[in-house]
This record gives sequence, structure tokens and C-alpha cells, in this order.
Amino acid sequence: MIKIALLGYGTIGSGVAEVLRINKDSITKRAGEEIEIKYVLDLRDFEQDPIQPKIVHQYDIIANDPEIAVVVEAMGGVEPAYTFVKQALLAGKSVATSNKALVAKHGAELLAIAKEKNINFLFEASVGGGIPIIRPLNSSLTADEVEEITGILNGTTNYMLSKMTFEGLEYDDVLKEAQARGYAEANPAADVEGQDACRKIAILTSLICGQQVDFEEIHTEGITRISATDIQYAKAMNRVIKLLAVSKKTKEGYSVLVCPMLLAPGHPLYSVNDVFNAIFVHGNVLGDAMFYGSGAGKLPTASAVAADIVDIVKNRDRNIMTAWSDQRLTLADYKQSKRRFFVRTTDSRDQVQNAFGAVELIQLPERFGEVGVLTGEMTEEEYEKRAAKLNEVLQMIRVV
Ligand code: HSE
Repeated sequence: MIKIALLGYGTIGSGVAEVLRINKDSITKRAGEEIEIKYVLDLRDFEQDPIQPKIVHQYDIIANDPEIAVVVEAMGGVEPAYTFVKQALLAGKSVATSNKALVAKHGAELLAIAKEKNINFLFEASVGGGIPIIRPLNSSLTADEVEEITGILNGTTNYMLSKMTFEGLEYDDVLKEAQARGYAEANPAADVEGQDACRKIAILTSLICGQQVDFEEIHTEGITRISATDIQYAKAMNRVIKLLAVSKKTKEGYSVLVCPMLLAPGHPLYSVNDVFNAIFVHGNVLGDAMFYGSGAGKLPTASAVAADIVDIVKNRDRNIMTAWSDQRLTLADYKQSKRRFFVRTTDSRDQVQNAFGAVELIQLPERFGEVGVLTGEMTEEEYEKRAAKLNEVLQMIRVV
């Protein structure tokens, strides 16, 4: 029997306990031995829950117990998760975590400690919820140079944009629903402002290039400025708006960007709706692949964490190598990437054509006094120069 400790009994932590309970027999068979939760660290008590006898309020009880071989971190946030996880690894305890903020910031260091101690630091649930993506990038696709990853990596915002598009619901109402379903972060600003997707694409880019990507350097825009009017325009163009996280290999290096984008029906991510996430991967020898599934929520995320626990048990005396050094990757300037732009402006058509040259006009009959246009392809730098010639830009959304 292997004894583990859970850090945090919130949505994910309680989900891990539930998965280990409901699939106990098959998990035991696959791991080769029984997995028992010995402690659950939380500030709260859970008197009505059978977990209560295992609740502890001090991390030292876990850190100092030699019987604990695996620590499962499901607290979220960088601190105190980082201190606890580092302490566990240094003490020879393997760690499974769902914490993207922790992995994006300290992944390289924690992986190095795990390697040195010949134990494991696994984080499948940190990107894409229940979708296997870390393991495929780290093993199945190691023969490839991954040239592009484009993902819908945040379930909350995808849920919100889908509801706004198909049910005409208001932003605040759909955010409340996403929170009630357990998709949103403790502070949902991390979802709607794109920071959650930013950390996830930083993790994926670090994995494919083997170096540390500083998420602070990724240009990130969320969905807070997307209005019902923008969604009407998107419909008029037969397109949808999605929050995309894009990482592309260019001659100048990886160009990484997180922002809402307009997608046409032929795009592989066009039909990814509700809380689902999807990750499109292009490898130089593989060609295209898509990973699709439940991107957030209690049990899907807990399923990925539990699978990491099983992998840790199966690899007790072996470090599963992950190539991610602490050498910092210099990102290419995203402003040099070429694309089309959708622009809403109160300027006249003549002024718009004077700024952008030939454009495709999109007119909503109910929007007097403004016009929507799709520009030709140009770099972001060029777009900014041309847009500066307009008197007023009400909205700009990039087109993919
Ligand atoms: N808040 C995150 C999301 C949870 O909505 O995708 C999963 O990482």
C-alpha cells in the first residue's frame, strides 16, 4: 500500500479523493498496489464529510511523516504551494499537481529537484483539465519538432463565450454560472483576463522547446472587452470569437500570444464549445493532431491528477525525464506576425480605406454611426501604424 497526502480539499482535492474512491479497484490494478489517502491538508474542517479524520492543518505533519511517498498539491496559487512542494521533493516525496501558476513559474526548478532525487514531479492536470497533453508532448511526440500549438486552454471563458454566442446571455450571468459549476479560478479575473491561458501556453511552450518561458513576457489579452455587439459582428461574418493561446515557431523563435480571435468554420477549433478545451498541435513530421476534451471542472481535472499518482506509483524508482531546463527562452516579437484584423470604427468608409487600403465591410443594420471592417493581412506593427490614422477605434479583434 502506498500512502499519499492531499494538499487542499477544494474542488480539485475533493475530486481526487472521489476519483480514488469510485475507481479504487481499477486504479489499484493499474498502479500495482493500493493507494491510500493518509492526510488532507486544509485550513477548514469538513465535519459532514467522511474525510474529516484525515484533515490536518499543519503541513509539517505531512512533511515529517516518512510513510508519505506522494504529495498531491491541489491548493492553487504560487505560495504556499511552492514552499510545500519543494519541501516534499527535497524530502524524497514525489508530487502530482494541477497548479498551472506553480508549474509555469517554478516548473524547471521542481523538475530538476525531482530528477536529482530520482523521484517524479508530474503536472498533467495543469493544462487542459482532463485532456492528456503534457504526457503526449513529453513522450508520444518527442520525435517531432513542434512548430505550432494553438489552444482553447481556458474552460471558463470558452463556456462564457459559447453561452453569449448561442444563448445571447450577458457576460455577468455566464460568469456566475461558470463559477457555480466549479470551472472558474478562485479569483475569476485570472480566467477572463487571460492569465490562466497565458500560464498554460507558457507551460506547453516550455515543454516543446525544453527551456523556461517567462509567462510575464507573453502578450495577453482576455475577454473582458468582448461585447454582445462584437458577437453580433462575428455572426454576421459567419465566424466565432474564441480566446486562443498561440505558440508558433518562426525564424526569430517562438512567437506566443493569448487573445480573443475570430475563427472561420474551417478552423479546427471553431466547433469547440462550452467548457471543452482543445489543443491543435503541428509537428514537423507528425503533421496535425488535435487533443480535445473536458478542460475544467472537478472530476475531469481530478482524473488527470489521479493518473499522475498512478504513474508515480508505477515509476517509484525512476525519474520520468522531462526536458525543461531553467535556461530562459527569448520569445519572438508577436508584433511581427502577420494576420488580418477586424476593426470597428466610427470613421467613414473613406477614412477607413485611406488607413487600411482595400477592406471587407461588415455593416450591422442596427449599428448606426459605425462600421466594421476586415483588413487585409499585415503585421501587428503595420496595423498599429495604419489604425493610428483613424479618429476612433471602437474594437480590434485579430483574425486567425
Ligand atoms: N479556471 C480554469 C479554466 C480551470 O476555466 O480552464 C482549469 O485549469
